[in-house]
Amino acid sequence: MKTSISIFFISFIVFALYFKIGVIVPAGGEGTPSVDSHELRQRALSRGLKPVPLSWEEAKEIVQNPQNPLTPKKISLGKALYFDPILSKNETISCASCHILEDGGDDNLPTAIGIEGRANPKHLNSPTVLNAALAKRQFWDGRSPDLEDQAKGPIAAPFEMGMTPEETVMRIKSNPNYSKRFLEVFPDEGVTFDTITKAIAAYERTLLTRGAFDLFLEGDDDAISQKAKKGLYLFMRLGCKGCHTGMSVGGQSLQRFPLRRYNSILSPESRFIGDERYFAGFSWQKIRPEEPFPFPDIGGFHGRNGQFLFRVPILRNVTRTAPYFHNGSVEKIEDAVRIMARHQLGLILSDEQIGQIVEFLKTLEGDLVEYMAE
Ligand code: HEC
Ligand code: HEC
Repeated sequence: MKTSISIFFISFIVFALYFKIGVIVPAGGEGTPSVDSHELRQRALSRGLKPVPLSWEEAKEIVQNPQNPLTPKKISLGKALYFDPILSKNETISCASCHILEDGGDDNLPTAIGIEGRANPKHLNSPTVLNAALAKRQFWDGRSPDLEDQAKGPIAAPFEMGMTPEETVMRIKSNPNYSKRFLEVFPDEGVTFDTITKAIAAYERTLLTRGAFDLFLEGDDDAISQKAKKGLYLFMRLGCKGCHTGMSVGGQSLQRFPLRRYNSILSPESRFIGDERYFAGFSWQKIRPEEPFPFPDIGGFHGRNGQFLFRVPILRNVTRTAPYFHNGSVEKIEDAVRIMARHQLGLILSDEQIGQIVEFLKTLEGDLVEYMAE
């Protein structure tokens, strides 16, 4: 009897691995268990989820780059440049055109549109600049180490701002207001491509947001709803926070995506349909290697060195930055969560569980902290 039971289990595991089964997380009669706020907070804090500091003194310690010391004058010079279309070839587009601060720090377009209506050739979606200072690397494939380096990219990209470094320096030098300010902030170097991007990065380092989640982590039990608490519990329990971690809830590492290649076809409403079959609470799908993502492969961008390695996105303000994923082809946050659970964790979540996780993600919305108003 015992041997037949173990043979059953062994064959079941072999079978499960062979078909790459997605395990359905039981919703149970009562669903996700009620969670104690204190325990949940301790669990979150001990797993690296941290509130964004309210005071600039504290925040500065976290966001500063020793190669680019932060001073109020440098930050305000960078702010002026960030909003100024002077940095684009035909003076029509600024950083703020694609990274709108009031609305999640992106443009809510599937793919970025630069000067003269030029679309990103790889159909890349604009990520948020909010809290980007908390990330360990920049860009979808993490190819840039910091904001100072990153800012050189869009200015010089022909499909974004379309300038050359020399043109940029000449233009800023010939502007009396800027040339005066640069001499004040960078007395030794004056206007160079490096000092231009250093000033912009200094400003970006102040773009941190705080919201309900921060208040909850700081001890206010009522800052987030019971539904959001269940979502936070699932986010940690299921393993989302293994990748989306740190103060910015992401941005800390490169990870493979999709980790598990369940094939799936998205209908026009972006929901899973197709070859799905269920068996005793499990489901499996055919694998189609020609479709690398569980959404259309528009743009053909396959991450770092084409190896399907992506910088894990920052989830602060994610509910304000639709559409989703590197090529912006998934519109609804619910579908993004469903895809993550299935393809990164091998889990099939119920609509109720997805709703709870989305409710938690909403608590990551925040407002810019007015550090410089002090
Ligand atoms: C035409 C739209 C557009 C403009 C203009 C633009 N960006 Fe971007 N930005 C993007 C896109 C698209 C990406 C992702 C590109 C990639 O990963 O290769 C990006 C990436 C970034 C990132 C990385 C964020 C992260 O989490 O990885 C930062 C920071 C950023 N931009 C800041 C800026 C600054 C500063 C400027 C102005 C100098 C600027 N952007 C101008 C579209 C734009
Ligand atoms: C193994 C690492 C890993 C795990 C685990 C993981 N993610 Fe992700 N997540 C990523 C990567 C990498 C991307 C970017 C993929 C891309 O755009 O091609 C991403 C993208 C996302 C996005 C879209 C963000 C945007 O701005 O476009 C959301 C939302 C998200 N994840 C939520 C979750 C949730 C919720 C869970 C748990 C159910 C989870 N993730 C688990 C690595 C992970």
